[in-house]
Amino acid sequence: MITHPSGALGDEKYRPQFHFAPEKNWMNDPNGLIYYKGEYHLFFQHNPKENVWGNMSWGHAVSPDLFSWQELPVAITCTEETGIFSGSTVIDYTNSTGFGSVENPAMVAIYTEHKNDKSKQSQCLAFSLDNGRTFTKYEGNPVLDINSPDFRDPKVQWVENQWLMTIARPDLHQISFFTSHNLKEWKHLSDFGPTAEVGGCWECPDLFQLGDKWVLIVSLNPGGYQVGSGTQYFLGQWNGKKFIADDVKTRWLDYGRDNYAGITFNNTPQDRRIFLGWMSNWEYAHTFPTQPWRGAMTLPRELSLHGDRIIQTPINHPNGFPEVSFTTSDGAIRICENNERYVEIGVRNQKLYIDTSRAWCDLDAPTLQEIAIEKGEIDIRVIVDRGSVEVFAVGGAIVLTNLVFVETALTSVQPLAGANNLKVAGLQTTHA
Ligand code: FRU
Repeated sequence: MITHPSGALGDEKYRPQFHFAPEKNWMNDPNGLIYYKGEYHLFFQHNPKENVWGNMSWGHAVSPDLFSWQELPVAITCTEETGIFSGSTVIDYTNSTGFGSVENPAMVAIYTEHKNDKSKQSQCLAFSLDNGRTFTKYEGNPVLDINSPDFRDPKVQWVENQWLMTIARPDLHQISFFTSHNLKEWKHLSDFGPTAEVGGCWECPDLFQLGDKWVLIVSLNPGGYQVGSGTQYFLGQWNGKKFIADDVKTRWLDYGRDNYAGITFNNTPQDRRIFLGWMSNWEYAHTFPTQPWRGAMTLPRELSLHGDRIIQTPINHPNGFPEVSFTTSDGAIRICENNERYVEIGVRNQKLYIDTSRAWCDLDAPTLQEIAIEKGEIDIRVIVDRGSVEVFAVGGAIVLTNLVFVETALTSVQPLAGANNLKVAGLQTTHA
């Protein structure tokens, strides 16, 4: 269940049932994802006043299990002249900042301060001594200023006894790395890029170890797999100073249209790498026809590595998901509202595809995504909420996240020729 500041359940038309969405107004990127004292914290880019981008502030929600979210009051608020852009949070266990104490360490948010006149983006701190409920902006802000209008989205973590910041130079298609002992003074280490996909700004990076490799996630907009926003990743090693990529192949984290600016949680139990993205696309996000809110997050997904691919596995929902799985080498299923409105997912001509043309609104966006696959039968799992379908194929190595738009909900599954081993939960099965 998702609860909101007013206590309302939020059951309006089109509202997702188990994906986080704010009670009202605009949301984009997830920010400051962290686990602390039994709670997952989700901060997010939020306009507290309107249903379109603007007045960028950090909204906030907490959850014990990544599904039952409680939305809290806005955590960090914009000013007349500046917006609070994307960033991360850390727990300052050693009290390196002096903001808290070792007994009660500060939760420190490292965010980009964006000047509304577009003259500058610099990095700032705010801290909380009450588990993220209230934040105080640091009086010595900014802590990192290179006099650039395009320098944003710091992801900070504690690596080898120092703070490491991974941050985007969007217009240069570069990711820069900085180090610090106290979050206040930063030293430049190195830059990565431009390489692979550079068709748009590089934004919202994340760097982490997965198995025996390091992963660098880079969102880019436009220039995504098909249209608008997309996320690529690089595999390689972090040597304490620089990221050395194994190769410069393009690897898409998601082949769907609607997964952008995703990052992973800091400080999760057992070091699980849990990812959350913004389930939208800058191409049409502003006009997506929901109200009084606009924007939802993807399902939380655990990341692992298999060969040179990231595998995404959705975190289990305590009550299970409405979902369908099947295998095919040449076949499909439809997930339907009725005979007219449905999503078709399958394999043809050695391509995995999703066709949302019968479950879309009048926004201009491509409704057929295809991706070449190896010969043979593949497994496909689809999780269905009001407003979205998330496809996890080939064990989660190929993922397609798409917003959909139907009158009420997709409630039944219709297998077409060539769909084998059908398993359905929380949806009806119908036959043509
Ligand atoms: C990505 C992004 C970030 C920026 C934020 C502003 O979607 O453009 O680079 O910090 O949105 O809301």
